[in-house]
Amino acid sequence: MAERTLVLIKPDAVRRGLVGEVISRLERKGLTIDAMTLRTMDVALADQHYAEHVERDFYPPLRDFMTGGPLVSLIVAGDEAITVVRTLIGATDGRKAQPGSIRGDLSLSNRENLVHASDSPDSAKREIALWFPELAE
Ligand code: CMP
Repeated sequence: MAERTLVLIKPDAVRRGLVGEVISRLERKGLTIDAMTLRTMDVALADQHYAEHVERDFYPPLRDFMTGGPLVSLIVAGDEAITVVRTLIGATDGRKAQPGSIRGDLSLSNRENLVHASDSPDSAKREIALWFPELAE
């Protein structure tokens, strides 16, 4: 059965005109888009989405970046979609991510790293409920 994961195409990717590039890579892999919305995240949603990071030193600039412009939120589905999408995205720091991955090919930053994707089944469930409450299971 297809697994679902939550993907955010972050404000840097929208600003740089890379939304199509990111979606194309997901689709060419064989994953499907179950839901997609363009919206600007508010601080309350950022604090919930990044609940595990709110006390970290890097959180205030991360929050400002993530709430600073529109982003695209998606539910992406497919066989082992959570792991497959994380592999396609690459390591958090774009300077260290493998060439061939989205961040490895297109990002030079640890913060402005183009894409977020759920890192576990529990995160996917929590994040889908946060971004698409009407589609939560
Ligand atoms: P993401 O996959 O959305 O999960 C947490 C985000 O925090 C991460 O991508 C980066 O955008 C950001 N991040 C993680 N570690 C750091 C760091 N050391 N410095 C700046 N930003 C970070």
